[in-house]
Amino acid sequence: MSKMPLITLFMVSWLMAAATAGNFYQDFDITWGDHRAQILNGGQLLTLNLDKASGSGFQSKNEYLFGRIDMQIKLVPGNSAGTVTAYYLSSQGPTHDEIDFEFLGNLSGDPYTLHTNVLSQGKGNREQQFHLWFDPTKAFHTYSIVWNKQRIIFLVDNIPIRVFNNLESTGVPFPKSQPMRIYSSLWNADDWATRGGLVKTDWTKAPFTASYRNFKANACVWSAGKSSCDSKSTSAAFEDATWQDQGLDAAGRNRLRWVQQKYMVYNYCTDSKRFPQGLPPECKRSRFL
Ligand SMILES: *[C@@H]1O[C@H](CO)[C@@H](O)[C@H](O)[C@H]1NC(C)=O
Repeated sequence: MSKMPLITLFMVSWLMAAATAGNFYQDFDITWGDHRAQILNGGQLLTLNLDKASGSGFQSKNEYLFGRIDMQIKLVPGNSAGTVTAYYLSSQGPTHDEIDFEFLGNLSGDPYTLHTNVLSQGKGNREQQFHLWFDPTKAFHTYSIVWNKQRIIFLVDNIPIRVFNNLESTGVPFPKSQPMRIYSSLWNADDWATRGGLVKTDWTKAPFTASYRNFKANACVWSAGKSSCDSKSTSAAFEDATWQDQGLDAAGRNRLRWVQQKYMVYNYCTDSKRFPQGLPPECKRSRFL
């Protein structure tokens, strides 16, 4: 028997996988920093640079309303103190929604801080910060946002680090009607980022570089007032729709607890000094979940 069909099948599935892996030329626009932001390897790699004159940034061409969005990022290595790499989803305007990852650099050997926040209807003040269980500058790691109607889950290498539940029934607004773009930028924030601004950027180490690859959006694209998920034909095109009702099972809850107990360095939900009138309502409802 000929081996042709098997080989053809293999090639077709490989081509399809490549097609869904995303291409930075197709999916993003460079919006800041001129030549400091570069798309390389035929669209498979993007780098942001920061030098003394400027940082750089990019944003997605598409707007999304719910989905799962994955990006692999390798952060500024060595002495990255004073630098901030932001990676977030945001809608527009004064009452915008936002889902943030922010990586605060540090001296060589000292840990990065991963800062997270959720803004709904323009209101945030929901910071949680973590150190990571690996060195995020040595290799690419996957940072994901699952955003469905019930909750937002932040994941690092598929491990949930934070969950923001939809508690609209108790009066906490939840991002659910404003489409968001993906944004990322690398900039200098040595007035506050590292040890509260005590450690300054060492410009002799510039340019500083963060790298991105393997962007993947299993997400509803918003265009001309319509969601691609509302039409049957395109929502069937999802590679994987498990995000739509994704929550945490027992294993997920265990991992979240592990991260929050061992790696969380700040939690607004336990900062009663900051909220003398009482902790925000979502904190009372659900310590972890
Ligand atoms: C930098 O390292 C110090 C010392 O380990 C740590 O306290 C701090 O949280 C780290 N991150 C930042 C952003 O300052």
